[in-house]
Amino acid sequence: MLLGLDIGTTGVKGLLVEDDGKVLASHLSEYALLSPHPGWAEQEPEAWWQATCEVCQALVEKAPAESKQIHGIGLSGQMHGSVFLDEKGAVVRPCILWCDGRTGAECGEIIEHFGQDRLSRLTCNTALAGFTLPKVLWLQKHEPANWARTRKLLLPKDYIRYRLTGQYAAEVSDAAGSLMFDVTQRRWSDKLLKELDIPRELLPECFESSDVCGEVSAEAARATGLGAGTPAVGGGADNTCGAIGTGVIREGQVLASLGTSGVVFSPSAEVRYDPQQRIHFFCHSVPGLWYLMGCMLSAGNSFRWFRDQLGQAEIAEAGRQGKDPYALLTALAEQAPVGSEGLIFQPYLMGERSPHGDPDARGSFIGLSNRHTKGHLVRAVLEGVTYGMAEMLSIMRDLGVPADRVRATGGGARSPLWRQMLADIMGATVESLASDEGPALGAALIAGVGTGTYHDFEQATATAVRVAGTTEPIHENQERYGEYFELFKQLYPTLRESFHRLSRLARHQE
Ligand code: XUL
Repeated sequence: MLLGLDIGTTGVKGLLVEDDGKVLASHLSEYALLSPHPGWAEQEPEAWWQATCEVCQALVEKAPAESKQIHGIGLSGQMHGSVFLDEKGAVVRPCILWCDGRTGAECGEIIEHFGQDRLSRLTCNTALAGFTLPKVLWLQKHEPANWARTRKLLLPKDYIRYRLTGQYAAEVSDAAGSLMFDVTQRRWSDKLLKELDIPRELLPECFESSDVCGEVSAEAARATGLGAGTPAVGGGADNTCGAIGTGVIREGQVLASLGTSGVVFSPSAEVRYDPQQRIHFFCHSVPGLWYLMGCMLSAGNSFRWFRDQLGQAEIAEAGRQGKDPYALLTALAEQAPVGSEGLIFQPYLMGERSPHGDPDARGSFIGLSNRHTKGHLVRAVLEGVTYGMAEMLSIMRDLGVPADRVRATGGGARSPLWRQMLADIMGATVESLASDEGPALGAALIAGVGTGTYHDFEQATATAVRVAGTTEPIHENQERYGEYFELFKQLYPTLRESFHRLSRLARHQE
């Protein structure tokens, strides 16, 4: 048996996985997101630990005999968070999360200090408000007493490792998102740390994802019900674990995840970061592999916004019929033609991360006419999200990643209409999977590679991941979408200034 634990933003998910890749038991324990000020996002690391204990105990209860046979634990986690610890290993302040926006000024300072070209050469990335390094500078400036007490900095899942095993450790895939990491060499960037006067001892030793770097302590065994001495591997960032759990471990493959946010992820066997920094470049959990990734803030969230604001009739009807309101809205969208008769939706409802890096970008419907019905509007929302995802993929292709097969996951991937749009707009075969367990499965498979259940990631994913169906692009749709997609890409630069003015006006009304 293998155990995968994903320390996510909404909760901890645990999976007990048999060596043949079958999921035997799963459990989820949720916690809150704290926002003490507008734009801030924090969580108490203790809440993750309590949830981890609850999940492990529940799995032990569900499968008492099998849980005694766990021979490897893998950890996955939300990226970029900052857990500051004092000399005794106690948490200094709540963790500042990946979706926190307080560090705009610090990002500006980092870019000014290094210059973007040099920062790209050092870290392959740019300074974004959610990343870890700007949070260190923020703490130094705004909470000097907390900084003075800080001796160690851990990423979220690495804090859970510390509680489970007593070891301070990091691994390459999560460390890559800290902006303190030399992604090319797969090690902390001593140069960058030195220049910013950040003590090297702040950061733990960094391993490859499948290296064993701790064993469950006697104390943690009592708290979780797991066996003392069970080895834990490095594990991975939730995005790389998600990729492993869906078998995306080779150049040429693409993972398109349609959750609340949208992620496009493509492995790369060479270092090829985007000099314009429209998308990220991090280390994959597979040794010798990296990946390009774009993150759209409102993918499924755009559809949810539409359902909640404009889908009241469908919500009521779905209640009467015992159906899902999204299914009724999607049925309306199916009646509208490709391109929604000249209607384009821009999905920047919460600003945008990739490819625009613009918190003040705003959503829009462009091209409304008297002919448009609700079905056209829904279709335009789904198409607009897909254009945005395809824009990230086209940047990856321009950088030389030969991406021709797209694996679709997340809630949106369950919709055949949305999968067809992905195929048509991305110009790729879209594969759907037999099961969609998310990052916890990938974490369990990393544990399997690290503790000898599988020879390598090829064998692990061949054992556990099964493609259930494919969707091919329809030539005629592709041609029509091609023109809309070109127009979509021109809209953001054309409207950028107007978006910024609208954002300023909205702020004045607050
Ligand atoms: C990736 C990112 C998110 C978090 C979510 O850069 O910020 O995908 O990892 O957990």
